[in-house]
Amino acid sequence: MNTMGKRRILSGMRPTGKLHLGHYTGALENWVSRQNESGADGKRVFETYFLIADYHSLTTSLETADIFDCTIDMVTDWLAAGVDPDKSPIFRQSQVKQHTELFLIYAMLITASRLERNPTLKDQIRDLNMEAVSYGHLGYPVLQAADILLYKGNIVPVGEDQLPHVEITREIARRFNKQYPHPELGDVFEEPEPKITKFSRLAGLDGKTKMSKSLGNTILLSDQPEDVFNKVRKAITDTQKIRKNDPGRPEVCTVFSYHCRFSSPDKVEEIAQDCKSGALGCVECKKVCSAAISGELAPILAKRSDYASRPDMVKDILLRGEEQARRVAEETMLEVREAMKIG
Ligand code: TRP
Repeated sequence: MNTMGKRRILSGMRPTGKLHLGHYTGALENWVSRQNESGADGKRVFETYFLIADYHSLTTSLETADIFDCTIDMVTDWLAAGVDPDKSPIFRQSQVKQHTELFLIYAMLITASRLERNPTLKDQIRDLNMEAVSYGHLGYPVLQAADILLYKGNIVPVGEDQLPHVEITREIARRFNKQYPHPELGDVFEEPEPKITKFSRLAGLDGKTKMSKSLGNTILLSDQPEDVFNKVRKAITDTQKIRKNDPGRPEVCTVFSYHCRFSSPDKVEEIAQDCKSGALGCVECKKVCSAAISGELAPILAKRSDYASRPDMVKDILLRGEEQARRVAEETMLEVREAMKIG
């Protein structure tokens, strides 16, 4: 809880460039609705902060040449999807030095063996065939804890793979409070709660469980209707439905899972019936599906092209967000230094 009594939401992404539908249904959409939620008094329920984890991206690639372009592409998608910089500061971790400072302090409050047990790290080592892990990569959740707690985030909307990091954040908050009680405040930090969205996992076009850039199975938020159609046309469906009139199994079909998210409940019901009976073929079903997706993306696409033509404006939004973020982060650091008696 901050001084105004509002709950704070903090979330972030690594600057991966243009975003896909999985980012939208798993994160962005939820960020925007929380940002715009208002209570009976007409005031916003939450304060929202959205962070670009550019330092975190160094854990898996030391290449920095296109970090800025990826940041601009990603922020353009955030804005197009409805993140409003007048309501939610948008900022790069690397431009707010307090992240580095708090990261260092937190690094002393957690053991290396605790970080070695992080299942998300283990998955990453396996998926990326990594031979060795850098000291900084091991500390990934420690930097993330600093990201969250510098802004006293109470609620952290994230994908499932990030739950272990929020858990580590909670442990660090507890450890800090116990070790360094503040003379007036008592506890400097509250333990944040993770929030998983309902559609946090959107299947990839290839039928794999997750839509992901590295798997090359994505529909981008910036895809034009014809791109969406061409991609959905090639999507994997029920592999046992070979001819148009074969009865299908919607429950195993990727395209059906997209309908569940992007078509109306009545339409979803009708499609399930007609697929099962064999009345509906995959070609027609995919046409309806891509139209539903493009329909939802249309306003985002329009806003996107507006922002994409004004990259300087996007950069200004970042600079403004970074100013705001620095102010909040420094307030927290003052408390941290007071509690530690190093201020
Ligand atoms: N680790 C997150 C991810 O890869 C990105 C991130 C960095 C983040 N700092 C954060 C998410 C703080 C939530 C809160 O998705």
